[in-house]
Parts: sequence; C-alpha cells; structure tokens
Amino acid sequence: MTKKIVVLLIEDNRTNLLLMRKLVEHAGAFEVVCFTDPLEAAAKLDAVPFDMAIVDHQMPGMSGIELIGRIRTEPGNADKPVVMVTADRDTELRLAALRAGAVDFLAKPIDPVEFSARIANLGRLCEAQRQLANRAEWLRSEVEAATAELRRREEEIIYRLTLAAGYKDEDTAAHTVRMARMCGELARELGLSAEACRDIEMAAPMHDIGKVGIRDEVLQKRGRLDDLEMNHMREHARIGSDILHGSECDLLRLAATIAMTHHERWDGTGYPNQLGGTDIPLAGRIAAVADVFDALISDRPYKQAWTREKAIAYIAEQAGRQFDPTCVVAFLAIISRETSTERKIELVA
Ligand SMILES: [Fe+2]
Ligand SMILES: [Fe+2]
Repeated sequence: MTKKIVVLLIEDNRTNLLLMRKLVEHAGAFEVVCFTDPLEAAAKLDAVPFDMAIVDHQMPGMSGIELIGRIRTEPGNADKPVVMVTADRDTELRLAALRAGAVDFLAKPIDPVEFSARIANLGRLCEAQRQLANRAEWLRSEVEAATAELRRREEEIIYRLTLAAGYKDEDTAAHTVRMARMCGELARELGLSAEACRDIEMAAPMHDIGKVGIRDEVLQKRGRLDDLEMNHMREHARIGSDILHGSECDLLRLAATIAMTHHERWDGTGYPNQLGGTDIPLAGRIAAVADVFDALISDRPYKQAWTREKAIAYIAEQAGRQFDPTCVVAFLAIISRETSTERKIELVA
C-alpha cells in the first residue's frame, strides 16, 4: 500500500482551515496535519514529518513568509513543495514569498475547483519525489550489497590461498591464525581505523605464502639451515610478493606488501631490501613483531619453543633494532593487558 502524502496546513482562520482540510482530503491520498497557530507549527516542525505544506500569509505572531523561511531551514525540507495562500496580489509580497522558499500561490477566497486541482498536482510531484528518493535508496543498498559480496569473495580467495600454503608448511595454519590475530590487535593498539585493522588481520595470514616456492628439503629440514639454504629460504618474502602483487584487490596488494616486508628490520639489516625505519610500510612493521613473537613461542623443526616471558623480553629488547619501537610499545601494552586479565581469571578461579 502506498504511503499517504502528509500535508501540513497552517491557517489561523478556522473556517478557512476546515474548508481547505476537506478539499485536500478529497483531492487524493492525503493525510492532513493542521495548525491554527504559526508559532506552534514552527516549534513542532522537526516533530511532524510532512511531504508538502500549505501556509496562510496573514497570521498573528508570525507571517506566512516567515514561517516558510523557517520550514526551509529545517534539514530535509529543502525540496518539499510549500505553497502560500494569500488574497494579496502585491508583486513585492509574492517575490518575498518566493525568496523565502514558496513554490506557488493559492488565491483567497478559495476556489474549490482550482484549489483541488493544484493540490492534486502537487501531490503527484510529491509522489515523484518520493519514488526518486526510494530509487536512490534502492541503488545505494544495491551498491552496498555488491561491495559486501566483492569483499566476501576477496576474503574467500585469501582464505583459500592461505589454505594452499598450509599444505606445504605444517607450521603455517596455526601460526598464521595467531600471528594474524596479533597483527589486528597491534593495529588497533596503534589507533588505526577499524577498516585498516580488519584489512591487516585479513591480509597477514599470507605473509609466508612464498614458502610454496621453497624446496621441501629446505622447508622441512630438521636442524639449522646452512648459508645457502638460508638464502634460499629468505627468497620466500620476494616469492610471496610476486604471487600477490599487482592485483586490483586492495587486500591482496596489502598482503603483497606484508609478504615482501615482514622480515625487514627497523635498523635496516633485514631482508630482502634492507629497508629501515619508516621506509618499511607500517603493515610490515606490525607483521614483523607479531610473526617473530609467535615463531619464538612455537616449536619449530630446528628449535624448541621459548617461554612466553623470554619471548616478550626479546621483543622488548629489540625495540629500535629489529622492530619499530612504537610497535613494541603497542605489543607490550597488549601483553600486559592479557597478563592482568589472566591473573584476574586465576584469582576468580
Ligand atoms: Fe616469513
Ligand atoms: Fe611467519
């Protein structure tokens, strides 16, 4: 069922008001809200949603022109048809009403035939405006839905790529989940926007995807890697970036950046490009802290897991050397919050 068009009717003369009300109600699917006091109408403008207004000119307390001006200043009222009813033929007065925002005039005394026809026309205008607004709203929601769908597909691609990398390197699955979660927390602690935090958390699991290009005997070697093997292993950063870069998808481009830079060091002695300080993209600096911390507290073919305390101490000590000091401060803040929550849980238990 189509919604009725709400007509605001402001006329201090009750006989005229009644007549106009009847005519409007008979002119179409209108609902009429009446006021005899313009000041009361002005005070309630934001509380009464309406589609068009009919305003008498000569009223005690506030003229029709003043009231039309007030109507136009309310947000959302800029395009609503507002008509002034007047017996005056004075051009100056009519110009002033047009300047205040009136779109048309209705003559007094009211001619029922003309009045009804004009109101029906304005009703059609309101209906067209409403349809246009609905269409704009529909288009907006369609664009929103399409964007969300695109995003969902991007996330699925990332999930499946990460899954593929997991077949090659057993550590990857659990490590990437924890590491990505820490990346998201670090980004939040650093005050990044909600969208940026979500993107980093989504892209981070692909930081080691380049390991699909590393030979199995190196990747799965138990024990330390020799120099040649280490150099080959280090190629995973560049390979990862090669796999991911150049995409039109923002998330994949961010993932390429993380893959390429998560082994760079703040002091410029990392790999593959020996970038230093803020030349390393922030996402890479965040990933470096999250990646190393999780690697340290995990068992690897070539080493046993460190204790959490020892790993935290290592990260703290590497502020300004391996890691961006700001990221380390954020990391320590997260860890100290986690520790105090664990203590509280222990006390309650
Ligand atoms: Fe890596
Ligand atoms: Fe890693």
